Amino acid sequence: MSRKKIALIGGGQIGGVLAQLIASKQLADVVLYDIVEDLPQGKALDIAEAAKVNGFDSKVIGTNSYKDIAGSDLVIVTAGLARKPGMSRDDLLTTNAKIMKAVAEGVKENAPNAIALIISNPLDAMVTLFKKVSGFPSNRVLGQAGVLDSSRFATFIAWELGVSVKDVNALVLGGHGDTMVPIVRYANVNGIPVMELLERKYKDAAKAKEVMNAMVERTKMAGGEVVKLLKTGSAFYSPAASAVQMAEAILHDEKRLTSACVYLDGEFGVKGYYVGVPAVLGSNGVERVVEFKLNAEEQALLDNSVNAVKKLVEDMGRLGL
Ligand code: NAD
Ligand code: LAC
Repeated sequence: MSRKKIALIGGGQIGGVLAQLIASKQLADVVLYDIVEDLPQGKALDIAEAAKVNGFDSKVIGTNSYKDIAGSDLVIVTAGLARKPGMSRDDLLTTNAKIMKAVAEGVKENAPNAIALIISNPLDAMVTLFKKVSGFPSNRVLGQAGVLDSSRFATFIAWELGVSVKDVNALVLGGHGDTMVPIVRYANVNGIPVMELLERKYKDAAKAKEVMNAMVERTKMAGGEVVKLLKTGSAFYSPAASAVQMAEAILHDEKRLTSACVYLDGEFGVKGYYVGVPAVLGSNGVERVVEFKLNAEEQALLDNSVNAVKKLVEDMGRLGL
């Protein structure tokens, strides 16, 4: 059986880690595309020359030509600027929207049957633009942010409770920005509510709530925390790992239920926008959106986050995109 093919549009920090992870897992053959001459070729050659050590037969090539992405099953897009200290993701809109338009045109022409997984920021707006320009059906256009944000939330919970992160389940919904919504009520450790474990640890409900609020805030600002430390860009190991989990779910038809930036057609009271919600991922890309009952506070927080996405999309409209 021939291997699947993944095209990576953008060969920068995240793109390079994606290429190495995908090849090392033998998830697919990899085509790494970038506009910078020879950059993807150099990274691909370096990754490919470790095939013996890393034990994979996946092909990894670099290219500056969209023609080489032909036949891709999945396209993962990281093309665009990353933020630097003092910048919000929204500050990337004007520059990255122009890049995303060109990328969507290139993918539409050369890999018209692919599933597109967008990573570039501001994420929810970039997914929206890719969908609009490519004309792909909504199940074949989605974005990666919720897996990363949920992983960050789960990690902070694991550290606080002194348990394996493998046993922590945590969900973050909404836009990939400061208004994202960690769902405290459903955070659990092997089914035990995190709030109950915190209340038992501190023997004080108010203290437990204070500790959870601190983890919620750290999750929302986690991207900026890494940007401040790196100084030259944003996180790339954790976003790449998160996108690979989604790629595996799609290419292996795993039916994973995970937070993903997907098109909503009335679910959660949202119609006509891309935003992070629980969705089942499989060979069709977005197999279905999974709704669950939000309480009034959670719905208000999600509505606030959706409004932030709507504003970005409106701003993009004013750019003529
Ligand atoms: P990077 O600057 O290291 O890499 C971006 C690459 O895009 C560069 O190599 C650049 O040459 C390339 N590029 C620019 N214009 C292009 C075009 N028209 N076609 C193809 N390639 C083009 O940045 P990075 O750290 O890899 O981040 C990439 C994007 O992902 C940024 O927008 C960043 O904000 C975003 N990001 C998203 C998440 C998430 O969870 N969704 C997490 C981290 C970063
Ligand atoms: C950032 C990524 C995590 O910009 O979206 O920090």
